[in-house]
Amino acid sequence: MADNIAALVAEYGRPEDVIRLVDRPRPAPEPGIVEIAVERAAINPSDLIPVTGAYSNRTVLPFVPGFEGVGIVSRIGAGVTGLKPGDRVLPLGASGLWQAYLQRPAEWCFAVPGDLSTEQAATAYVNPMTTLRLSAAVKEHFGGLSELIGLRIGVTAAGSAIGRMLLKTLAAEGARVTALVRSEGTAGSLGTLVDAAPIVTGPQALDADIVFDAVIDAVGGDVGGALLRNNLSGGGLFLQYGALSGIPIAQDAISARTDVRFSFLWLRSFVHSAGRAALGIALEQCFDGIRRGTLSSAIAATYPLSRLDEALSHHLASGRAGKILIDPRC
Ligand SMILES: NC(=O)c1ccc[n+]([C@@H]2O[C@H](COP(=O)([O-])OP(=O)(O)OC[C@H]3O[C@@H](n4cnc5c(N)ncnc54)[C@H](OP(=O)(O)O)[C@@H]3O)[C@@H](O)[C@H]2O)c1
Repeated sequence: MADNIAALVAEYGRPEDVIRLVDRPRPAPEPGIVEIAVERAAINPSDLIPVTGAYSNRTVLPFVPGFEGVGIVSRIGAGVTGLKPGDRVLPLGASGLWQAYLQRPAEWCFAVPGDLSTEQAATAYVNPMTTLRLSAAVKEHFGGLSELIGLRIGVTAAGSAIGRMLLKTLAAEGARVTALVRSEGTAGSLGTLVDAAPIVTGPQALDADIVFDAVIDAVGGDVGGALLRNNLSGGGLFLQYGALSGIPIAQDAISARTDVRFSFLWLRSFVHSAGRAALGIALEQCFDGIRRGTLSSAIAATYPLSRLDEALSHHLASGRAGKILIDPRC
């Protein structure tokens, strides 16, 4: 039986320092469990946060990182129905994709349509579903809108995978979207994704005459705090879903805006409460968005798992031109 090569985190720290490649046993799947031969896994910022120990209250060491990827069912435990060896699936709801063979309960595995490529399938879940949840949250805030016509929405870290999906998705629903980025280089890379010129954010606050009805923020820190204080209209929505700056938004910026709604959105909360039927519907929406191009990801490079250190360096490089994928089969 082939070995199970895995990336393993046995202690918290900088991902480049603490993630080790190990050979793990490959036991037969227990009843209700599916073994998946992983074909591709994505590297997302959210994979690295637990490695640092940031979620140590809900992380058990050791663990294999990787919340997103696609693979082929290789073995099934007793009692598994609806899946068989050879089926291509997305395993959801837990980390563990950065290894050659993953075991997950069958109810957390979802079939992938045959028309999606391996790369599309490996990036079909985390960012597309988060984008759809963010769009739905904006609609809900403004009274259950069916579209976003005319709403002025600022999107920070607009060059990220989710940022690009938001630019396309929100504009397709009629919103007037402004891309907020941290460098001229990233602004230039957005090309036809934007109608209005992107705004490069820096130490200076934006002009107060730039006003948004909603800000969707993945940066936090000073950039997010300044947008919340100065550039959100009364009754507006500040929706935070990431903190790429590594710094939370200052509490006094939040307290100063009693006239707006400040909220967080975590995909995890939805995934662990929605139930299988709702997750299946959400995934179908993701697949449709990928086919239309609104929820697709550019791929910057694919590395074998054996070169994970290079993959992580590339992932952390500024100005990276898309997602980094891992092929755990080599
Ligand atoms: N809440 C949730 O459930 C949820 C789900 C998924 C993802 N997320 C979060 O969403 C964010 C984006 O994820 P992703 O997969 O789309 O990222 P990604 O494609 O890996 O891109 C991240 C990009 O953000 C930009 N960036 C990094 N630090 C920045 C900073 N301090 N200020 C401004 N821009 C910065 C960089 O672009 P440049 O180098 O071009 O400037 C970087 O390439 C992450 O924070 C992630 O944790 C949250």
